[in-house]
Amino acid sequence: MRFMRAVIVGSGSEIPPNAVTNQMLARIMDTSDEWIRERSGVETRYYVDLGTATSDLGVAAARRALAEGATAPEDVDLVVFATMTPDYYFPGAGPLLQAKLGLRNVPCFDIRQQCVGFLYGLQLVDAHVRAGLARTVLLVGAEVHSGFMPYSAANWDYLYGRSDVPPTPAEHAWNSRFRHLTVLFGDAGAAVVLQAQEDGSRGIVDSVLGTDGADYDKLYVPGTGFKHRPYTDPEQFARGDHIPVMDGRYVFKLAATRMVEVAQQVLARNGLRIDDVALVLMHQANRRINEHCQKALGVPDDKVVHNIHKYGNTTAATIPLLWDECARRGRIRPGDLVLLVAFGAGMSWGATLVRA
Ligand code: ACO
Repeated sequence: MRFMRAVIVGSGSEIPPNAVTNQMLARIMDTSDEWIRERSGVETRYYVDLGTATSDLGVAAARRALAEGATAPEDVDLVVFATMTPDYYFPGAGPLLQAKLGLRNVPCFDIRQQCVGFLYGLQLVDAHVRAGLARTVLLVGAEVHSGFMPYSAANWDYLYGRSDVPPTPAEHAWNSRFRHLTVLFGDAGAAVVLQAQEDGSRGIVDSVLGTDGADYDKLYVPGTGFKHRPYTDPEQFARGDHIPVMDGRYVFKLAATRMVEVAQQVLARNGLRIDDVALVLMHQANRRINEHCQKALGVPDDKVVHNIHKYGNTTAATIPLLWDECARRGRIRPGDLVLLVAFGAGMSWGATLVRA
């Protein structure tokens, strides 16, 4: 008997309309284009218009992925939606997407593994397809990080050049307090359609995933959770506990170590070497992390794609966005072996091999 494999047959993405350069951010906080570019590789990121939510970005990306994969919405029999910035506390973004796309009443999983969400999603899809529980799957990663930005409405206007009232010294200091984090992130949505195919030559080959929750507090949101009663209150906002806390240096080192290890594990488990891989798509949290991983894994430049300079870190959207860009540009050809690698809050990490 041949195993069923989940094959990516279409991809799509949605980039919101508001491009924000490093120089624009420097209008409202103590930062510079030079610092952001050198330390992280980010040059621009995009933010949604007020009112656009994560499910909207996911829906737009999913529509493109369905069209690209010549898949009718009524054929979808499973949805997996990865995000750490859902429209509402509950329900998750999956049901919202199901309704907006007019899908059948199929199971919709909401998963929240942050920057590794898409790889965890691929494993979930792979297991369902291999078990015969799903044939046509929509896997979505989308984020509206701009909701995390601590700026006042007046500061947003000044950032966009819609007002000439600069931040007060107190607002400037408040915005600057979170600068090591806020400058890195952008909003985006991306999606892939996967279909069960009997031909064993294509599809998700294997994944290695890992988690170490002991380090959860190196990157987390301390407030607005049910550890508090009530779960949110004005004091938490006054303290800034609704904004993520990140020990950047610690996370940097852990990401650089774990991403190399997990990539080596998935290759070794499948009797493959890095030379067998046509393309390596790494999560885009920091260009220097990826340059370190590329060197440690011995990957030549022409097999690595970066897009952090354009979009910043878009968390669960990053890997499918990279996939979509590469597929459109002909950088992923049918039969190519693609290695996906990511690390994120949790702490969680993963590496997935996909035969395009
Ligand atoms: N502009 C100007 N200066 C800044 C900024 C900024 N935006 N941010 C921090 N600085 C300053 C700091 O205050 C510090 O100043 P000091 O030396 O006077 O104290 C100095 O720059 C160095 O700060 P570091 O935090 O040590 O800088 P580092 O080189 O480590 O870069 C960064 C920070 C970019 C955050 C890096 O540590 C990083 O990328 N970490 C990993 C992030 C990551 O991978 N996250 C996981 C994925 S996200 C997810 O899962 C949701």
